[in-house]
Amino acid sequence: MQSSIDPDSAQKRVEELRAIIADHDYQYYVLDDPTVDDAKYDMLFRELQLLETQHPELVTPDSPTQRVSGSPLPAFSTLTHHVPMLSLNNAFSDTEVEAFDRRVREALPESSEIVYDCGVKFDGLAVSLRYENGLFIRGATRGDGQVGENISANLRTIASIPLKLNHAPPLLEVRGEVLMLKKDFHTLNEMQKQRSEKLFANPRNAAAGSLRQLDARITATRRLTFFAYGIGETDWGAIPPPTTQSVLLDYLSRLRFSIGDERKLAFSSQDLLSYYQYIHEKRERLPYDIDGVVYKVNDFAMQQIIGFVSRAPRFALAHKFPAEEMKSVVLDIDVQVGRTGVLTPVARLQPTFVGGVTVTNATLHNEDEIRFKNIYIGDTVIVRRAGDVIPEVARVVIEERPADAREFVMPKRCPVCGSETLRLAGEAATRCTGGLFCPAQRKQALLHFASRRAMDIDGMGEKIVEQLVDKELLKTPADIFSLREDDLSSLIRMGDKSATNLCAAIEKSKTSTFARFIFALGIRHVGEATARDLAQHYGTLEALMSADTESLQTVPDVGEVVAESIRHFFFEPHNIEVIRALLASGVHWLDEKKETAKGALSGFVFVLTGTLPSMTRDEATERIIAADGKVVGSVSQKTSYVLAGESPGSTLAKARKLNIPVIDEPRLLALIDGEKNTGGSV
Ligand code: IVH
Repeated sequence: MQSSIDPDSAQKRVEELRAIIADHDYQYYVLDDPTVDDAKYDMLFRELQLLETQHPELVTPDSPTQRVSGSPLPAFSTLTHHVPMLSLNNAFSDTEVEAFDRRVREALPESSEIVYDCGVKFDGLAVSLRYENGLFIRGATRGDGQVGENISANLRTIASIPLKLNHAPPLLEVRGEVLMLKKDFHTLNEMQKQRSEKLFANPRNAAAGSLRQLDARITATRRLTFFAYGIGETDWGAIPPPTTQSVLLDYLSRLRFSIGDERKLAFSSQDLLSYYQYIHEKRERLPYDIDGVVYKVNDFAMQQIIGFVSRAPRFALAHKFPAEEMKSVVLDIDVQVGRTGVLTPVARLQPTFVGGVTVTNATLHNEDEIRFKNIYIGDTVIVRRAGDVIPEVARVVIEERPADAREFVMPKRCPVCGSETLRLAGEAATRCTGGLFCPAQRKQALLHFASRRAMDIDGMGEKIVEQLVDKELLKTPADIFSLREDDLSSLIRMGDKSATNLCAAIEKSKTSTFARFIFALGIRHVGEATARDLAQHYGTLEALMSADTESLQTVPDVGEVVAESIRHFFFEPHNIEVIRALLASGVHWLDEKKETAKGALSGFVFVLTGTLPSMTRDEATERIIAADGKVVGSVSQKTSYVLAGESPGSTLAKARKLNIPVIDEPRLLALIDGEKNTGGSV
């Protein structure tokens, strides 16, 4: 291709562009502090690509255009580490750290001033990068420490790995860890999810999977990051070699490697342990995963004296965090009933030490969670406990599912009280419907029953309820009314006077309102307002208790779910028993406005048509509902009366055809004024 500029100028510009792009890469990928926007960067990159196309002789391996190149490999070749890549001894306890410090001190002359370089233990994959005269030549995995895999093409794609070092010695192997930042991991998994591809379990697996690609173009699409922590083979040439770990890290940082921000010097085992604590606490907030901290004697000369034992240095130690994930087996799935009646499945696990504690069970939350995670009884699972987080079953090891693994079934009856269980539409939770009776819900139900806006029993607070339940003086709300004064005065922090007062408050609460009573029952989804509407609509307990879901849904704000909840509550014989006991003990309510009118039109269904003489159709509807009648839109066999005014519509004709009685306004009012009923018994 014909160039627009002469070869010399092209060469100069190409070099200039490479330096500018390398600067930008460093700013962005290492310092996390970009200085140009994407558009500007792309422009520079495209200019370089164009020049290199026009002058192919100018293409060099350290050009940023060469980060992604080549074709998929049939397999990785191997590379030998002339300076082996060792591993570290691990410690899990303070005592082990103190023993390490003691050994270090014993190996050195007494007068030595021992300084430790502390850093984090990156949870990624160890690699070695070889630079000759400042140029990245190749790189390899750790392998067995002697021989690793040649993953040069993949390493080139990592933008935080410089392809060229300025002021570098003739030979420098930089060692460190390739990992995926938490944010890049989440982005990757989001993308995998959108494409319905397999999700990675954690950043480490994602990094490993990405680095092991035989096609570097795939690696290039995964954002990986490199952190340097040491060196391998070197030839320093004219450059004075660093004499301590911290000087080395400063040097690597000047060569533009990421070294992380968490370095500290320590002077005693106490210092080491405080550093561990500090990092442990900060762990979740770090942008990458770590699995511990690393202590190294800072001085290289001292390191030499202390030496190595087999494959690990004696001058360094990895102080590891307890593993966050461990395998276990789901021995069974039990169901617990909470204070609010929610049934929670709990996995009983084969005891496993994870996140620093022995875990024997983990909540599985609800039915959906179990289906979603596909957990069977008998499964081998990965249990996870990160930080102070409650242990959870992270996932199933599906390959290890035994033939006799069983699926979990949510019980149809409450494991605590035997009442029917119910899962309402749109809710994840399954609940016990025996709210008034169930021992698991006792304290909660009693407190609610006695609360100010329910039965308003002044003085019946948490402390009292707690003691009464624990002493088995209270089992259901009905028991409140058979409490004797000396039962109460025997309680802690309850004087005779308070006992007398509480007794009086209990007595007084027997006279309540129907709405308060309904609210006090603690039916799920029946708040104060709904309780009031229900009281108005039904007037008597019998009417409410025998209402079917269809009837319930004619009450304002009562939809399918609320209706279902109410019906199940009154369907549960345990609850009925308690309600009977409450009434038997003298709980009653005054006949309120609506209650006196109750029943007059109960069970009657009206259809309205035409213009009425003294009220609007809306007003008539209100009157009918207030008297417990029902108003529907069209005539059917179920219609009791058609209320007709002036100029009725086709409704009238239809009513006649079906033989449905047609009445006028005065007749309606007479019906409403008819017999009266009072509520209060079952
Ligand atoms: S120093 C002589 N420093 O931990 C060994 N290693 O078991 C030199 N690692 O394979 C290793 N973070 O990949 C060192 N700040 C750090 C590290 C670190 C992670 C890994 C490393 C090595 C393993 C040691």
